[in-house]
Formats: sequence, C-alpha cells, structure tokens
Amino acid sequence: MEDGKILVVEDQDAMRESLVIAFKDEGYQVEGVASGEEAIQRLGNSVYDLVVTDLKMKKVEGLEVLKAVKNANPSTEVVLITAYGTISTAVQAIRDGAYDYVTKPFRHQEILKVAKKAIEKKSLKDRVRYLEGEIRDKYKFEGIVGNSNAMLEVLKITSHVCRTESTVLVTGESGTGKELIARAIHYNSPRKDNPFVVINCGALPENLQESELFGHVKGSFTGAIRDKMGLFQQAQKGTILLDEIGETLPSTQVKLLRFLQDGEIRPVGGNKAIHVDTRIIAATNENLEKAVESGRFRKDLFYRINVIRIHIPPLRERREDIPLLVEYFLEKILEKFKKGKRVFSEEAMYAFMNYEWPGNIRELQNIVERAVALSKSEIINVDELPLPVEEFAALSRNLVDYEKKKSFIVTTLAEQEKNAIIDALNKYGGNQTKVSQVLGISTTTLWRKIKKYRIKSQHEISDNIDN
Ligand SMILES: Nc1ncnc2c1ncn2[C@@H]1O[C@H](COP(=O)(O)OP(=O)(O)OP(=O)(O)O)[C@@H](O)[C@H]1O
Ligand SMILES: [Mg+2]
Repeated sequence: MEDGKILVVEDQDAMRESLVIAFKDEGYQVEGVASGEEAIQRLGNSVYDLVVTDLKMKKVEGLEVLKAVKNANPSTEVVLITAYGTISTAVQAIRDGAYDYVTKPFRHQEILKVAKKAIEKKSLKDRVRYLEGEIRDKYKFEGIVGNSNAMLEVLKITSHVCRTESTVLVTGESGTGKELIARAIHYNSPRKDNPFVVINCGALPENLQESELFGHVKGSFTGAIRDKMGLFQQAQKGTILLDEIGETLPSTQVKLLRFLQDGEIRPVGGNKAIHVDTRIIAATNENLEKAVESGRFRKDLFYRINVIRIHIPPLRERREDIPLLVEYFLEKILEKFKKGKRVFSEEAMYAFMNYEWPGNIRELQNIVERAVALSKSEIINVDELPLPVEEFAALSRNLVDYEKKKSFIVTTLAEQEKNAIIDALNKYGGNQTKVSQVLGISTTTLWRKIKKYRIKSQHEISDNIDN
C-alpha cells in the first residue's frame, strides 16, 4: 500500500477514471477532476502530494495548472501527461518545476512508477525542510503540541484552511483535540475578531435544537415569550463549531443544508429568511459515513460538510508525541500550582509510552495533572500514576520485561538504534512503512539500517528479543 494524496486532472473521462482506479488500487488517496479550472479550485481546499495533469486541455491547460500547484504549495510534485507533438512543451514544463512527464499512450505501470518516485521525492523534501525547521515553524499553532508526521499533516491542512472560507469537518476520537483545532482555525482566519461559538449538538434537548441554532420568533411555541436570536446569528461574521454534528435532528439537518446552499436561515415560527455570514466547522467522533448509510444523516448535507476533512489520529497511533505532551502539561501544571520541580521516572515515561490512551490527550492531561498534584517528591514514579487498575496490571507485566531487557542494553548508540527498530518491527508485525513513520525516518533509511544491522526476518527479530 502506497501513501500519498493525488489529484488527477484529465478531460477525457475514460482516461481519468482508469487512472483514478489504478492509483486507488495502489492505496493512494485519489481525486479526479475534468478541467484545469476545477483543479485550481481544489488546490485552494486541499493539500496534495502529487498532481497528475494532462498537458492539453480546453481553456486552462496543464502548464497553468502546474503554475497554480507550485503557487499553492511548492513542494507538491507535478507529473504531466503529454501527447506526441507536445513533448517540447513538457520539457519546458520540467524547467518550470514539473517532476516528469509521460507520453501517451502509456501503460499504467509506467505512470505508477513515476508517481511513486515523485511522491518519494516530495516526502524526502518535506522531511528535510521539516528538519531544517521551516515547516515546523510555518505550521506552528500556539498551544498545539505534536511532532509526529501524522500531527504535522493535521497542522499543515489546518494552516491551509485558515486562509479559506470552506466548511471543515474535524473528525477524531474523543479527546484528540477537535475543538482545539477548530479554535486554531478560527483564531488564525480573517474572522478572528468576530465571535467563535461552540455548540454541542448532542447536548441540546431535541425540542430546542432548532431554536437554539436558528432562533425563534415570539409566540412560535409555548415558552417563546420573546424573539430570540439563534447561535448562527450570534456567530455573525465569525465561526460556529457544530460539535457532534451527527446528533442533529432531521429537521435541523434540512435547515443546515439550506444555510450551506444559500447562506440563509429561518427562525422557528418566522416566515422571513435571514441572511447570515457564519463559517461552519463541524466535528464528530462518530463515523458519519455510517450515519449516512443508516439514514440517520442526510447524504446531501454530508457532502456539503465534508468539503475539507481534518482527521486527528488517536494518540496511540502517534506515540512519539507522548513525551512532548507530557512535558508540555507538566510545565503548565507546575506553573499553575507553583509546585517545586517534578520529573517522571524512566519507568513512568515507559508506562506513558505504552498505555493505550482511550481518552487520548484529554486523559493524558488529566493523569499528568493528577500525578503532579498528588506527588510528594521530585521524582514521580510509575506507582504514583493514577492509571486505571487493570491497564496498570498489564503495564506492570511489560515493565518486568522492560527491566529484564534493560540490563542487557549495551549502551552504544548503534545498539540502541538497532533495538528501537527491532522493537518497532515486532510491534507493528514487520510493517516497514508503519515503522518508518513511527521512528520518523524514511522507508529507504529504515531499509538501509535493517540491512546494516542484519535484521533479516520476523523470525530473527523474535530471536533477538528473546536473548
Ligand atoms: N495537540 C495538542 N496539544 C496540546 N493540547 C491538546 C492537544 N490536543 C488536545 N489537547 C488538549 O486536550 C483536551 C481535549 O481536547 P479537545 O477538547 O479539543 O478534544 P475533542 O476532540 O474536542 O474531544 P471530545 O470529542 O471529547 O469533545 C483539551 O484540553 C485540549 O487543549
Ligand atoms: Mg470537543
């Protein structure tokens, strides 16, 4: 399975569709559009690793698409599809920054190979720029901690959507930081000086959902003793975060759809439509696609909301962020409590790294805070962590292994590196792509190191651990 997001720009339907399928089969995320205009529009909404574009199209041609891509995000690679006779233009395009071109007719194998190389080059470039600090600083948001590739990707899209007006759907398990990201979008957008309103749709009583969101006119129902302005109007020129969007009632969904179509709302009991200028960010920790399938959520509304999707992966899938987060919360809490210096013991850190974190960052924050509050001495040990009992038992078993292993650790750097790779390979069942992501190195580097340390097969990996 390959990783990466590709945009295919091709005006011939059959050709475009077959390319989209070919890329999908390889595991890429793919979108296809039929014109240069559409392509340029998409660039404003999404970040791609690779754009594959036909050179010759009506109106907006491939060269213009190339220019727009490089403008939107210089590190996105472009591969051109040329016909016989336009090769000289393709050569020019490469001077203008395209990665490569393929000449029609071509076999899928050929373009897949070029695409793969282009994406590898892009991720290498990103990695280098990241290490040089350029991306890290560019996508930095105050109060959002995270250094993993996964989080970097989230921050990249976040910083991108700050500059657009698109509706955004933020997904992720409970406590992963959906509201934090929504806030970051609002407070870094041109709307920042206007209100940011948060409403948990799941927490609204059913009979009040519509009136809370869209307001009501006096006398429209028992208890409506005066006109009431809804949250959409309160968020005028600002942003409204519709949390748990999946919990909205069918009637509310109709109203949301109408708002997204023509920017108008209708207060309950009112017959006049009111125009409001409010940006919607929707959030959910449920699978909205499933809600659509089961008929609980309108499909047309889903499409309108799912324009840009920011998915925040659970903490257990980006464990390399854990030490940073622990340190961040520790520092904050010490400042707040005016406590003396505190550090977590090595074993405590190990427990943090290995715990599953079902409640994600919120849970981590709570545990760090409680551990600090309860601590009596400078070093906080693993038995002082307020982790759930059964989880703790499992972790303690691991700790015994850890202690055992530790006494065998030869402290050369190379040895540590080797062990880290073996551990990760073991943990992820030998999946090298995953391991390289977790360790923050490219697959090529990982492969070189596996060779260098003669880590040959799963079998040998297990042998190593048993030693
Ligand atoms: N990357 C991060 N860096 C620092 N703090 C974070 C990060 N992610 C989340 N937090 C903190 O964790 C807590 C939970 O985040 P938030 O409320 O945004 O989660 P959520 O996804 O909206 O959760 P829920 O689905 O339960 O509403 C907040 O205190 C937030 O500040
Ligand atoms: Mg939330």
